[in-house]
Amino acid sequence: MEQTFIMIKPDGVQRGLIGEIICRFEKKGFTLKGLKLMSVERAFAEKHYEDLSAKPFFGGLVEYIISGPVVAMVWEGKGVVATGRKLIGATNPLASEPGTIRGDFAIDIGRNVIHGSDSVASASKEIALWFPDGTVNWQSTVHPWIYE
Ligand code: PPS
Repeated sequence: MEQTFIMIKPDGVQRGLIGEIICRFEKKGFTLKGLKLMSVERAFAEKHYEDLSAKPFFGGLVEYIISGPVVAMVWEGKGVVATGRKLIGATNPLASEPGTIRGDFAIDIGRNVIHGSDSVASASKEIALWFPDGTVNWQSTVHPWIYE
C-alpha cells in the first residue's frame, strides 16, 4: 500500500493545529503508520530540502523549519501521495481552496503549516530520512469498511 511523508511545520504546531490535521487524514480513511514530535537541526532541514538549495527562499525555509518542533508522520492508503496533497492544498495559501488545510489555516507561503511528499519516489526518500528505524507495522481493522 502507498505511503506518504507528512510534516506539520512549526507554525502548525505552535497554532495548535496538530489534532485538526491528523483528524482530516484519519477521517479521509488513511492509516497512520508513524508519528513523532521533534526538533530538527539545520543540517537535517537542509538535507530534507536539498533539491531546493538553489532557490532564493532556501535559507528562509530552513530557518522556518528549525524555528520550533515539527510533527513528522507517515500515512498509508490508496493514492495517499496525490490525495494527501489535495487535502493539503496549493503551496501558496492565498491560492489554496477553502476546505484544504492551507486554504483554511494559512496566508503566507513561508508559513504554510504543512508539508506533503510530492511523489511516491520523494515519499520513500523522505520516509527513510525521517524514520530511519522504520514505522509501525499494523493494519487497521476498519479497512473492510473503507476499501471495496
Ligand atoms: S518550487 O520553487 O516550484 O520548487 O517550489 P514549490 O514546489 O512550489 O515548493 C517547494 C517547497 O518550497 C516552499 N516554498 C517556499 N518557502 C518559503 N518562501 C517561498 N517563497 C517559498 N516558495 C516555495 C514550499 O512551501 C514547499 O515546501 P514544502 O515543505 O515542500 O511544502
